[in-house]
Amino acid sequence: MTQDEMKEEVAKAALAYVVQDSIVGVGTGSTANKFIDALATMKDDIKGTVASSEATAERLRGHGIPVFELNDALTQVSKLSVYIDGADEFDPQKNLTKGGGGALTREKIVAAASEKFICIVDESKQVEHLGAFPLPIEVIPMAETLVMSIANNLGGRAQVREGFTTDNGNIIIDVNGLTIKNARQLEDDLNQVPGVVTNGIFSHQGADVILMATPQGVKTIA
Ligand code: A5P
Repeated sequence: MTQDEMKEEVAKAALAYVVQDSIVGVGTGSTANKFIDALATMKDDIKGTVASSEATAERLRGHGIPVFELNDALTQVSKLSVYIDGADEFDPQKNLTKGGGGALTREKIVAAASEKFICIVDESKQVEHLGAFPLPIEVIPMAETLVMSIANNLGGRAQVREGFTTDNGNIIIDVNGLTIKNARQLEDDLNQVPGVVTNGIFSHQGADVILMATPQGVKTIA
């Protein structure tokens, strides 16, 4: 089974978590794209969606699936029923690294606005400790040098993602070479740095359930 087929399988498995007549939060990336395509088969069963990026909103609309602004959705419901998205890495505590596609801030916002986060991955994303995948940080451009030097002092190798601007008009700094022993602490510490919008550690907004595709089928890690 190819990685692409595994992504398709896990995306279809996530349909079981979609709540009828509700507003669903939808993530960003290649696995989330497979989920959007699968969600199109049951678009009449939901009220609509909130997208975590412009790219996701466009794909959802392309399938004729209604997309609400988060603020509008939250005038109708106190929380979105579920947030479904991929990840770049996950650890045994269901902490995640996200932001490989640069949508981490909106992803974290939509995850925080949802009752449950169902994370859809293939088995290549499973790690013992986060850090092998470069940690993305969304930064207000004037704070670039400040954040780079703080990230380097933490023992990482910070690099600006060339030619990339987030949907919020900011830059991404990717930090290589971090060994992340305490994901929650590092998430908090980096978010305290002025100019950091958010970082790609999802510990406060970690997954409630991870659906992991393997060649033997989809495993549920709850
Ligand atoms: C997007 O910003 C990311 O957080 C994605 O969710 C993550 O990079 C996983 O993407 P893939 O499903 O493409 O691996």
